[in-house]
Amino acid sequence: MAPPPVIIEGKKILITGPTGQVAEPVVAAWAPKTDLYAMARFNREADIRRIEALGAHCLKVDLADPMGLEGVPDDFDYVLNFAVVKSGEFDYDLAANAEGLGRLMLHCRRAQAFLHLSSTAVYEYAGQKPLPEDAPLGDNHRVMFPTYSISKIAAETVCRFVARQFDIPTTIARLSVPYGDNGGWPFFHLLMMEQGIPIEIHPEGPNYYNLLHVDDYLEKLPRLLAVASSDPTTVNFGGSDKTSIEEWCDFLSELTGLKPEFKTNPKAFGSLTIDVTRMHELIGSTQIPWREGIRSQVEALAPHLLKVKGGTRSN
Ligand SMILES: NC(=O)c1ccc[n+]([C@@H]2O[C@H](COP(=O)([O-])OP(=O)(O)OC[C@H]3O[C@@H](n4cnc5c(N)ncnc54)[C@H](OP(=O)(O)O)[C@@H]3O)[C@@H](O)[C@H]2O)c1
Repeated sequence: MAPPPVIIEGKKILITGPTGQVAEPVVAAWAPKTDLYAMARFNREADIRRIEALGAHCLKVDLADPMGLEGVPDDFDYVLNFAVVKSGEFDYDLAANAEGLGRLMLHCRRAQAFLHLSSTAVYEYAGQKPLPEDAPLGDNHRVMFPTYSISKIAAETVCRFVARQFDIPTTIARLSVPYGDNGGWPFFHLLMMEQGIPIEIHPEGPNYYNLLHVDDYLEKLPRLLAVASSDPTTVNFGGSDKTSIEEWCDFLSELTGLKPEFKTNPKAFGSLTIDVTRMHELIGSTQIPWREGIRSQVEALAPHLLKVKGGTRSN
């Protein structure tokens, strides 16, 4: 049976990548109830001010820098690694995403649990087949982000080595497509529809993914920490129900009257849907139906585009 979620209230927690799309809502939700430290390069003063205003302590660190963690506290209860860089420079990206993760784990090895956020971009393209955690790995996102999939695979490998070698309870969660009232892929598609920009899709449709709403991942993060093991737990992390780019664009069209123009391109990312069996066993199913999440996103970010007003979300 799945263990209960860890208690985060009052705990000293480190989150890397706090200004990112995925982590910032976590900072906003957790800073008021935890002792939260936020680590990034923070080259923009405005980012520091925004994250501090949410209530987190900012740590200015470049994870690619071998000396970057000097002076950083090392007594965290929980660590969540959400930082990622995709500069396109292999040396730098591997140093930050993989070596930097290894150093961070060593530095924080007294933590009760370490969560590394990976990506379904580590899987080799396999059409519409839902991919279990032992599916073949591949350089999935090469066309758009040359260093990304390789960095994420390298990071997972470093993560497993350090966890086993130094007995650090660790979870590796392979995230599908995050979205919410702060943005995400469906919102980019809406903007493309508004501007009449063609949406490139792989010719072998439907192009399935597992949209994961912010509210769902906020609920699941303490559960992912609870299943951490020094023989690291690797688990897919997405919405329980798959949907496709084609379906969510059609739904955006229903909401707004805007029409998507699809253009097939064999080089576009193809379908990348996950087998959620292990996820359900470990952390349970997700709750936000994707149509409800997308409607809420449009209401939050582009209410002027809605044809029919009126919310459906209960919270
Ligand atoms: N967004 C998605 O659709 C998606 C899908 C699947 C998986 N994921 C995974 O989810 C996680 C978060 O992704 P995201 O999209 O939220 O990322 P993002 O928006 O690109 O943000 C990246 C974060 O990492 C920090 N960062 C970058 N390079 C750094 C370095 N060298 N040292 C320290 N911090 C650094 C950035 O801040 P600074 O620039 O200030 O350093 C920023 O806070 C990643 O692990 C990603 O692989 C995301």
